[in-house]
Amino acid sequence: MINNLQSVGIIGTGSYVPEQVVTNKDLEKLVDTSDEWIVTRTGISERRKAESHIATSDMGVIAGQRAIEAAGLKPDDIDLIIVATITPDMFFPSTACIIQEKIGAINASAFDLSAACTGFIYGLAVGSQFIASGMYKHVLVIGAETLSRILNPADRNTLVLFGDGAGAAVLGPVEDGKGFLAFDLGSDGSGGNLLYLEAGGSRLPVSEETIKKGQHYLAMSGNDVFKFAVRIMGETSLKTLEKAGLTREDVDYLVPHQANIRIVDAAVKRLKLPAEKVYVNLDKYGNMSGASIPVALDEALKENKINKDDIIVLVGFGAGLTWGACVIRWSY
Ligand code: ACO
Repeated sequence: MINNLQSVGIIGTGSYVPEQVVTNKDLEKLVDTSDEWIVTRTGISERRKAESHIATSDMGVIAGQRAIEAAGLKPDDIDLIIVATITPDMFFPSTACIIQEKIGAINASAFDLSAACTGFIYGLAVGSQFIASGMYKHVLVIGAETLSRILNPADRNTLVLFGDGAGAAVLGPVEDGKGFLAFDLGSDGSGGNLLYLEAGGSRLPVSEETIKKGQHYLAMSGNDVFKFAVRIMGETSLKTLEKAGLTREDVDYLVPHQANIRIVDAAVKRLKLPAEKVYVNLDKYGNMSGASIPVALDEALKENKINKDDIIVLVGFGAGLTWGACVIRWSY
């Protein structure tokens, strides 16, 4: 429950990943890398790539429709759509508005939210406030990314890490004491230079020169992001548990952002969780940024890893820098 208001929880999830699989061996043909390096340094074996005619909204539509159906609702029951993405279809209109039209959510307001890989957690936090306050009843939160469009095909440092996909959750009122028990959100703009896409905004519009310099591609200082991630994933999880009046012993299942198995392992070590209580699918999908957590959550549910009344922690970090976690008492 949030401040003694209406309790809010996730009442349905859905996900979609494109069919095209890009293996580490495929990438060996494009850049100076090896399957062995990628697997040992990241845990990633393959990732998905959207066909050229598929944009972020197309994947978000499917994930969103699946989540609405899982919640037993119709598109016109949705009051608000929030899309967490760093790869929108275009600057504007928002990808949320594009999805609203495509799924026929005629009663929904819609906006995008930018918090990179933490975007889905931010979306859950924002969306749940509308329900807790009584303003809305059903909010669709989607994390969707077509990261393959912003990767430099010649940069082995980033090309191997990311994949495309979409995940979604419908939020709604739940029984008292269930649903979201606590959130922790954080940001540190001083780390903005560690992970960014430089050209294409008002600071540096795209020009022939920016294209020549590859400034329209994602740039990352991997090692610095790694050190930050290893620290923050455990910290924010423990802080959120404390806010919920719980400890790490209470955690039944952890769904972390899927960036790198070594980052997940560090968080798991800090939380002293056994491997069977942690969902990992980064080997199949790589890092799907805002889509990683909702896809992992949806798959964990489908594999019956999460049961009614379980204490679940979702935790992520990303560009910004941003980070966040939530603790949920699962309601179905
Ligand atoms: N294949 C082979 N060698 C590579 C590759 C590759 N694909 N990529 C980097 N290397 C090389 C580097 O060039 C470097 O070589 P050098 O020593 O000759 O310079 C060497 O491997 C080691 O590089 P490090 O950066 O020290 O390797 P590290 O162990 O840190 O692993 C990695 C790199 C995987 C990027 C890691 O730092 C990481 O996972 N960082 C976090 C990244 C992340 O999660 N980003 C997403 C944030 S979420 C968001 O908001 C989008």
